[in-house]
Amino acid sequence: MREKTKDKIVVIGSGNVGVTVAYTLMLRRLSSDIVLIDLDEDRAQGNVLDMNHGIAFFRQLSIKMGTYKDCDDASIVIVTAGIARKPGQTRLELAQTNVKVMRDIARQATKNNKDMIMLIVSNPVDVLTYVAQKESGLPASQVIGSGTILDTSRFRYLLGKHFDADIRDINAYILGEHGDTQVPIWSTITIGGERLDEFLTDNKKVKINREEIFEQTKGGGAEVIQLKGATYYGVAMLTSRIVASILEDEHTVLPVSHVLNGEYGFNDVAISLPCIVTYAGIKRVIDLHINDDEMEHLKLSAKTMKTFLHKSIS
Ligand code: 2OP
Repeated sequence: MREKTKDKIVVIGSGNVGVTVAYTLMLRRLSSDIVLIDLDEDRAQGNVLDMNHGIAFFRQLSIKMGTYKDCDDASIVIVTAGIARKPGQTRLELAQTNVKVMRDIARQATKNNKDMIMLIVSNPVDVLTYVAQKESGLPASQVIGSGTILDTSRFRYLLGKHFDADIRDINAYILGEHGDTQVPIWSTITIGGERLDEFLTDNKKVKINREEIFEQTKGGGAEVIQLKGATYYGVAMLTSRIVASILEDEHTVLPVSHVLNGEYGFNDVAISLPCIVTYAGIKRVIDLHINDDEMEHLKLSAKTMKTFLHKSIS
């Protein structure tokens, strides 16, 4: 059982995502002990110094560069390291390279600490969550991938705008792979507690093109990459949200990835399902009553993921 005493967080990888994660964790006051690890020591040191230059009028905290030794007493290790896709490179080639990187990280980070939560953000996140769990030997509940929390957040953002409703009142999920086979779960959507079909009956003027909203959701990452080369603010905000649920033992339901053991009928694959996230990690999966069509799509997502996973790790 994890002891509830530490708030030390190690962030592996200090590229755009890693640094923005560290920055949001700091601003949200989630940790007073943050360590960055990167092969590019100058980059890590530069970012650490930059943030330290701002804390004098913020609050007392430690944010520094470190080594794998720092993982020994960390509560959470967040992995953002890995290469980004280069032009012309296939998803599979990217996966194979990042699997090698992840194997090494998982082994080194967990050598003297089996008590941590590993939070995987690098892509392909579902493949890497699987590899991190197998390689580290940590229980499946302690290795969490950010998964479709990002797609879900994009979905809720678009739905909130479309329905002119507070985004926090939209309960909607994207589940499955953080990638092309992700599944929008339309059948369980509620707006302020009202089911979507009832909401549409009550608000006859509101029309919705489901396909268009889903395509925009799924293409959200590519759209940002096209515009500015990379995505990092959204994913960093959501990574901090997962960390908050862990460190503050919030029991929040979040669509995140972990290696499944029979949940929704899936085994030995990591995809996102709605999970209760606590200090101990994933406590359990919520059994949403999704419709048959959505279940078929989810099965296809898990199957595609499994095939891709085996190609990536072989
Ligand atoms: C995203 O969806 C690229 O996975 C990243 O923003």
